[in-house]
Amino acid sequence: MTSNWLDTLEREAAGLLPPDVYAWAAGGSGFEDALKRNRSAWSRITLRPDALVDVSRVDLSTTLLGERFDAPLAIAPSGYHGLTHPEAERATADGATKSGSLMVLSSRASLRLEEIGLPSGRWWFQSYVLKDRALTEQMVVRARALGARAVVLTVDAPVLAPRRQSRNSALVPQAVLEVNTGPVTDPEMLEPAPDLTERDIAGLHEISGLPVVVKGVLRGDTARRCVDAGAAAVWVSNHGGRQLDAAVSTADALGEVVDAVGADTEVYVDGGISTGVDALRALALGARGVFVGRPVVWGLAVNGATGVADVMNRYVEELVLAMRLCGRSQVSALGRDLLG
Ligand SMILES: Cc1cc2nc3c(=O)[nH]c(=O)nc-3n(C[C@H](O)[C@H](O)[C@H](O)COP(=O)(O)O)c2cc1C
Repeated sequence: MTSNWLDTLEREAAGLLPPDVYAWAAGGSGFEDALKRNRSAWSRITLRPDALVDVSRVDLSTTLLGERFDAPLAIAPSGYHGLTHPEAERATADGATKSGSLMVLSSRASLRLEEIGLPSGRWWFQSYVLKDRALTEQMVVRARALGARAVVLTVDAPVLAPRRQSRNSALVPQAVLEVNTGPVTDPEMLEPAPDLTERDIAGLHEISGLPVVVKGVLRGDTARRCVDAGAAAVWVSNHGGRQLDAAVSTADALGEVVDAVGADTEVYVDGGISTGVDALRALALGARGVFVGRPVVWGLAVNGATGVADVMNRYVEELVLAMRLCGRSQVSALGRDLLG
C-alpha cells in the first residue's frame, strides 16, 4: 500500500507520544472494524470527473450555520489535548485561527474554557448530556458567553464502549477530568446520561440560546427526529469507530441522512476523511461541512498550533486540486452527478 502525508504524520506522532496516549487517540472499539471501514468506504466511492470547465479559479468558501468560512473543512471535537501537546487546546485554537478553520471544542478539554483563548464567533462547543444535567447546563452557558456559535450535542455515546486504551481516568488526572465542571463528589456524574432523548435537544437550545447540532447520527429516521425536535443541523458520525464497532461507515450513511432531512437542514460528516478527495466525495454526497478528527491530533502532537494549521491547509490544497480535476470551481457545484 502506498502511504500519503497523513500516514507519515501519524507515524511521526506515534513516535513522539507515550504509547498509551497514541493508542487512546488512534484506537477504536472492538476489532476496530468501524474504524477501518470509515476509511475504506470513502476510497470505494469513484468519481465521474467533468471536463471542459474553467477551473483557473477555485472558490471553496461556504457558510456553516450562516457563518462565512473560507472552506467547508473543519476541526472535529477531540478530548484532552493536554495529552498530546503542552499548550493543549490553546494551540489547537491558535492553529484553527491561523488556517481560518472552524473549531469544535470538546467539552472534555484539558483547560478551562476561559483559558483557551477561543476566537469569539468562530467556534462551536461540543457537549454531552451528563448524568448531572446541571453540570452540562453551566458549561453550555459559559461557552455561549465565550462566543461559541453552536452547541454540538454528541448522541452516539449514551454509554462509552471499551477502546484500545479504555479508560480516560487511566490517562487523565482527576483535576483535569473536573477542570470544566468543578470537583464532583460522585465521578459517575461526569458520565454521559443513558436516558438522553430528543427532548434534550430543545432543552439545550433553550438553556444556551444557541443552535443545536446533533452529532452521531447514522440513520435517516434518527435525523428526522432530530430536526423535528428542533436541531439546527445533523452530523453523520460513528465517533471515529470508537463506539459501536458494527456501525455502518459514515460514507455509507451520509446519503440517507441528507435525503431524510432535505435541503433546508445542513448535514455534516466525519470519520476517516484522509484526503481532500474524501472531502470532495462527502460534499458531492450532500455534506455541507466535512470534519477531521485524528489528523488534527497528529498535527498538534507533532507541531502544536502550526501542525494543526498545516493539516487543515493540506486538506484545503487537496480539495482545490480534486475540484480542478473534477471540473468544478465552486463548492455549491458539487453534486451527486460526480459520483461514479
Ligand atoms: C482522541 C479522540 C477523542 C475524541 N473525543 C471526542 C469528544 O470529546 N467528543 C466528541 O463528540 N467526539 C470525540 N471524538 C470523535 C471525533 O469528534 C470524531 O467523530 C472522529 O474522530 C472523526 O473521525 P476521524 O478521527 O477518523 O477523523 C474523539 C475522537 C478521538 C480520536
